[in-house]
Amino acid sequence: MCGIIGIASTKSVSSNIVESLKKLEYRGYDSSGIATIDDNGINEKKCTGRVENLEKILFKTPSNGKVGVGHVRWATHGAPSKVNAHPHSSEQVSVVHNGIIENSSLLKEDLEKKGYKFKSQTDTEVITFLITEFLKDFDLVKAINKTLSKLKGSFALGIIFKKYADTVIGARKGSPLAVGYGHGENYLGSDSYALKSMTNKITYLDDGDICLLNNNKVEFYNSNNKKINKEVLTLSNDENTEDKGDYKDFMSKEINEQSITVKTCIKEYIDETRKDINLYNFPIKPNEIKKIVLVGCGTAYHSCIAAKYWFEELTTIPIETDVASEFRYRTIQFDKKNLYVFVSQSGETADTFAALDLCKKNNVKTCSVINVVESSIARLTDFVLPIHAGPEIGVASTKAFIGQMLVLYILAIKISDSRSEISKSDYTKKIIELKKLPDLISKTLKCEDKIQVIAKDFVNSKGVIFLGRGSSFPIALEGALKLKELSYVHAEGYPAGEMKHGPLALIEEGLPVIVLAPSDRYFVKTISNMQEVIARGAKVLLVTNTNNDVNSENIRFILTVPKSDPFFSPFLLTIPLQLLAYHVAKLKGCDIDKPRNLAKSVTVE
Ligand code: G6P
Repeated sequence: MCGIIGIASTKSVSSNIVESLKKLEYRGYDSSGIATIDDNGINEKKCTGRVENLEKILFKTPSNGKVGVGHVRWATHGAPSKVNAHPHSSEQVSVVHNGIIENSSLLKEDLEKKGYKFKSQTDTEVITFLITEFLKDFDLVKAINKTLSKLKGSFALGIIFKKYADTVIGARKGSPLAVGYGHGENYLGSDSYALKSMTNKITYLDDGDICLLNNNKVEFYNSNNKKINKEVLTLSNDENTEDKGDYKDFMSKEINEQSITVKTCIKEYIDETRKDINLYNFPIKPNEIKKIVLVGCGTAYHSCIAAKYWFEELTTIPIETDVASEFRYRTIQFDKKNLYVFVSQSGETADTFAALDLCKKNNVKTCSVINVVESSIARLTDFVLPIHAGPEIGVASTKAFIGQMLVLYILAIKISDSRSEISKSDYTKKIIELKKLPDLISKTLKCEDKIQVIAKDFVNSKGVIFLGRGSSFPIALEGALKLKELSYVHAEGYPAGEMKHGPLALIEEGLPVIVLAPSDRYFVKTISNMQEVIARGAKVLLVTNTNNDVNSENIRFILTVPKSDPFFSPFLLTIPLQLLAYHVAKLKGCDIDKPRNLAKSVTVE
């Protein structure tokens, strides 16, 4: 969480820092700040709220300086406030930080004894004062390494200095950080996305690396103060993603472009002529897979649960799913014949990365389903399956979820074929059928007008329950998550059959219950569960793909998505739920792309 930018240039840097911070807002947006070095030393400006507030401050009182750092914050230690916003500066040093320093209280006590006066409640200020202290006795790189050796936890840092007025230093342990190379300037950034408008030449720092930039050179050092060489990568120039087009927000753009992103992804994986799925150099022979373990967080985790149902239908491989924050601390019997799959849009989620790291340490085969292919998770896994969704800016994930499910579904079909657990003709049929998915998604998106009417009816509800069985269950979870994230309405997703084991007590007159019941082998059971909630006064929205066998009496709304291959139901059921969350949030006046308290990329535990 939190976004870092640093620039060392031959010209004033503040406006470029602010522009980059706007791109980093998806990492945190409760406060922001900038520090530059000018003739008087460190010039720090910060404020609560969005980067546009910082921009207004800089408009009134511009910051000069050819070297500077900037930060957008997602609060961990200390409430979102001006004093807790980064940078945190002493007379000599200014620091921006992403991550958590776990031993900050102990370090603070020591520093206070030495006479340092803390202004904020953050864990970051200890870094500022440690560097200030070590700079009294050591040169720049040694002072930074001495400081880093004192810190426990995870961090990415950007640092500027009064004494070394042309230099920006970056350091990484556990939180991502990249260097970008420009003409007459060089950059430091939390990720390549923030740097992309300035350069496509970048280097990723590894844990323990320090980088030292000025306007005409970049140097890297390891934790022993030795200079090291690092690879420079050239980033692909993908589509212009900052343009919302005619859409009011990124989320509606991202929902509406799902048929296109799905089409692109299918094209990447399907060999049209051979009617086959392209998957070369997979790290483990499908025949030898003993178990598949699917791990992710938030929306990505829901795609893992959907995939569990597909793998179980299409293969005989036992499947396990877990949220990464649990997986990473379990006592797990790792098995070299298992495949461990990590699903992440950003590829930077701290818990998912730590879970992957645990697998790497146990020498098991790993694979990632990723949107950002340059990300830390993508770089650490043995095999990467990109979802080709293009950058997703809205904090609440939409097109990435559909992309994750799609790639996991494609993987399930391919593994099933490779293990001869599906007939060749069924395999070919599934591939041909896949090509229909983009069009089915386009058709489903047409339900938006109806959803707007339903949203008006649901907008004042205190809570909403989402029910589904089989592969509709993870969609119930995802629908509830979307509503919570965007509209701050309490929502729960439940397996429909579990209602009577507790949640049924919540049903009262007028409580909205969204029932997902495509025509599959669970249909009759789910409809029975729906009747149970209707009998207790629930206001039901039934989302289905069949008009048969449903007694519409007492059902408040029925929304019919196109009939399709049963494996596609999770994709099509998702869309009305995304739109419902969107429209309820809109009616409530919530910030669609940046819901309160959240961040797009969660790089702290
Ligand atoms: C955050 C985002 C969610 C996302 C989750 C996992 O909480 O707000 O939308 O599902 O992180 O992110 P990842 O990038 O790993 O998919």
